[in-house]
Amino acid sequence: MGKVHVLEHPLIQHKLTYIRDKRTGTKEFRELVDEVAMLMAFEITRNLPVQETTVETPVMETKASVLAGKKIGLIPILRAGLGMVDGMLNLLPAAKVGHVGLYRDPKTLQPVEYYIKLPSDISERELIVLDPMLATGGSANDAIHSLKKRGAKQIRLVCLVGAPEGVELINKEHPDVDIYLAAMDDKLNEKGYIVPGLGDAGDRLFGTK
Ligand code: PRP
Ligand code: URA
Repeated sequence: MGKVHVLEHPLIQHKLTYIRDKRTGTKEFRELVDEVAMLMAFEITRNLPVQETTVETPVMETKASVLAGKKIGLIPILRAGLGMVDGMLNLLPAAKVGHVGLYRDPKTLQPVEYYIKLPSDISERELIVLDPMLATGGSANDAIHSLKKRGAKQIRLVCLVGAPEGVELINKEHPDVDIYLAAMDDKLNEKGYIVPGLGDAGDRLFGTK
């Protein structure tokens, strides 16, 4: 079964508090999501493989390390996942970016896919699916199925806030996918919002509603 990692770095937790705060406006919300995404990129790349090389310093030649292994693909789930892309790209500038457009039907809470555009070599990349919210898990589940159908072999899911229902669904449907969260919240309310959560991530990021 995929592991669930809650990233407890104090900077992530501090910024998440202001992201949750209903008084935080769009500009600051967007900046904070960007910063937390960058910090999460730092945390989730701790175990990337490196290989030995040599480098000539101004003083002498010495042994050194460079990243080895698979290239990375970032896959934001539209819309809200877009808010996490730039922060991740700050640390992973060579990553390619694919987009999966999904929205949750407000009545049925079922995800509806309306767009997909991916790098041609996704089967050779380690994919990092980005979405601030993992609520029922329907959107992430569909996005991951879509990626696998198109050849993806290695996928991780990175969200700001998760609900137990979403984590359970991804673990059941995709036991090969590890989940990284800044927080694991309590539950969903009757409208499918995460409690305590942060409200509607897309609306808060883009100032809609
Ligand atoms: C939100 C959020 C996730 C989804 C999570 O998107 O960004 O994609 O809901 O809910 P789930 O786990 O129950 O599927 P939304 O459907 O509101 O679309 P938007 O990003 O375009 O606002
Ligand atoms: N989507 C959001 O944007 N927020 C939630 O709490 C649940 C789904």
